[in-house]
Amino acid sequence: MPLFEKFRENWVRPALFFGNNPISLAGGAATTASGVTMVAYWLVEIFGRPNDNPYLGIIFFLILPAIFIAGLVLIPIGIFLRRKTLQKSGQIPVAFPRIDLNDRIFRHGLDIVLVATIVNLLVVAVASYRGAAYMDSPQFCGQSCHVMHPEYSAYKVSAHSHVDCVACHIGSGAKSYFEAKVNGTKQLIEVSINRYPTPIESPVQNLRPARDICEGCHTPARFIGEKLLVKSTFADDEKNTETQSVVVLHLGGRDSLSHLTGIHGVHLGHIEYVATDSTRTSIPWVQKRNADGSDTVFASPDAGSSVPSGERRVMDCIDCHNRAAHTFVTAEDALNRSMAEGAISPELPWVHKEGLALLKASYASQDEAKSKIPRELEAFYRSQHPEVLTSNAQKVQDAADQLVTLYDENVFPSMKVTWGTHPNHIGHMNYPGCFRCHDGNHAAKNGTSITQDCAACHNLLAVDEAKPKVLADLGIQ
Ligand code: HEC
Ligand code: HEC
Ligand code: HEC
Ligand code: HEC
Ligand code: HEC
Repeated sequence: MPLFEKFRENWVRPALFFGNNPISLAGGAATTASGVTMVAYWLVEIFGRPNDNPYLGIIFFLILPAIFIAGLVLIPIGIFLRRKTLQKSGQIPVAFPRIDLNDRIFRHGLDIVLVATIVNLLVVAVASYRGAAYMDSPQFCGQSCHVMHPEYSAYKVSAHSHVDCVACHIGSGAKSYFEAKVNGTKQLIEVSINRYPTPIESPVQNLRPARDICEGCHTPARFIGEKLLVKSTFADDEKNTETQSVVVLHLGGRDSLSHLTGIHGVHLGHIEYVATDSTRTSIPWVQKRNADGSDTVFASPDAGSSVPSGERRVMDCIDCHNRAAHTFVTAEDALNRSMAEGAISPELPWVHKEGLALLKASYASQDEAKSKIPRELEAFYRSQHPEVLTSNAQKVQDAADQLVTLYDENVFPSMKVTWGTHPNHIGHMNYPGCFRCHDGNHAAKNGTSITQDCAACHNLLAVDEAKPKVLADLGIQ
């Protein structure tokens, strides 16, 4: 017998005969449906617009292959079981039925596989499409996963609350796309087996290249020249005495002659650095590409003579705007801002001192903070200034509510995120920020150093002044 015929007689026909059972048919249908869906998806990937969602990876790299393999496994199991039953009742035929489309039994089996496949295909395809659309949304990324609670809370109140998480967190291009899939899948597994880091680590190593993300919306050509910054600070005295700082930041960018100037202009694309710690706070080595193409190296005294080992990066938006979408503030800044806006009335005696202490106290959970903060603020006024509770009860209530809100936006005991957990690199008051490099200690061979001259970055029009005259001159209250 020729090889092909032998194969058909001894393998294909018995397989089809025994395979005509519910278990094997279901297996076959599952395998074909998931297989066809995966192939269709890959074709879309290659020729169409790839979908930027990492969680699709869970469907296409975990669930569908699992169904595919489970289906494959079911087929021989069904065959084996049917063969055993038939053997027991002595019903195994001497000759297996021919493979013949006119054969009723064979056709019947084929029909079942076909119908089941189409139904499966529709179900799997619709489910994965709908699922993917849902999983693209910030609601899914931020809310269905409690681990993301801190980032989602900060995101909701940020300037970027209308930018999808995936726009920043998932790169375009095949490589970052694949990485994101693998990562998303890994993270979901970590969360489902309860083994994720608290707090979630930053910086995020596999973020989309900042310039791709940010410059999609913020064109460097349109960076404005100067930015006026007014900051209010309240003192820890009975009157909550207010002072203000007024600063004009030399933001710069690309001017009309295409020259790069100011804070934005000097760094972008020209500066490389080595960070020796995982948070990119310790930066002993910085290199600047000069206009003539030469390089100047600025090194701190502890850097040694060669390039230190560590993470080497070209500076981009995220080296300053690391908290663009998730700005956790300090307790002081949060309180000062709320008082400046009037959400916490500066008329309440000692409210700055008491509020700060309540914000910084340690609570086991947000729920505990929610019940304790209002209770203790009221207790303070009841014992020290009972007249406030009669004349200004509503303001005390509002202040307590606002303190709870500030706490909820910034402290997440369950994720071990508290005041200062995620440093912000803009500025230099609360965290090293700009002074990671601009500390006056990073020197080049020619004796110059990265400047710490206050005037290089801003004009200080007023520093902690009561009612600065300049604000009145500008017509700003
Ligand atoms: C505008 C861009 C942008 C958007 C939109 C955005 N992120 Fe982020 N995200 C970042 C950057 C940048 C970091 C890195 C922070 C750092 O290095 O300090 C980050 C960090 C994180 C981290 C790591 C922990 C941390 O706090 O640093 C998590 C988790 C996270 N983002 C989740 C989300 C979720 C969930 C959403 C949507 C609800 C989202 N992000 C939307 C830019 C963004
Ligand atoms: C999809 C568009 C989009 C992307 C992507 C985007 N932004 Fe924005 N960003 C905005 C919009 C819109 C505003 C202004 C919101 C407003 O005025 O309330 C804004 C405001 C800002 C501000 C000023 C407000 C603030 O929070 O201080 C900064 C700084 C900023 N973006 C930085 C970044 C950085 C850095 C990135 C990249 C990590 C980025 N943006 C990515 C749309 C975007
Ligand atoms: C060297 C640090 C640094 C880098 C790098 C940097 N920025 Fe900024 N940027 C600043 C500072 C400082 C401010 C003003 C801070 C403030 O508003 O409190 C600012 C302000 C902004 C604003 C707000 C302007 C406004 O009118 O309020 C936007 C938008 C912005 N940056 C976008 C970007 C983008 C996009 C990139 C990357 C292409 C980038 N920045 C890179 C330091 C930097
Ligand atoms: C990774 C290191 C690094 C960080 C972080 C950094 N810078 Fe710089 N910056 C440099 C280097 C290097 C130069 C060029 C110094 C030179 O040419 O003498 C520079 C130059 C500048 C200049 C121009 C100074 C001049 O005399 O012309 C300004 C303004 C500036 N930086 C502002 C900032 C601000 C604001 C921040 C924080 C938001 C910041 N930088 C963060 C490395 C850094
Ligand atoms: C490398 C740039 C840089 C240098 C040098 C620098 N600053 Fe600043 N400074 C900033 C930036 C950026 C901000 C704005 C931070 C923000 O957006 O909140 C700032 C804000 C301030 C503020 C506003 C108040 C506050 O609480 O944020 C004061 C005051 C200030 N700087 C004082 C100084 C003094 C004094 C010096 C000189 C010893 C100095 N700075 C040097 C970049 C710099």
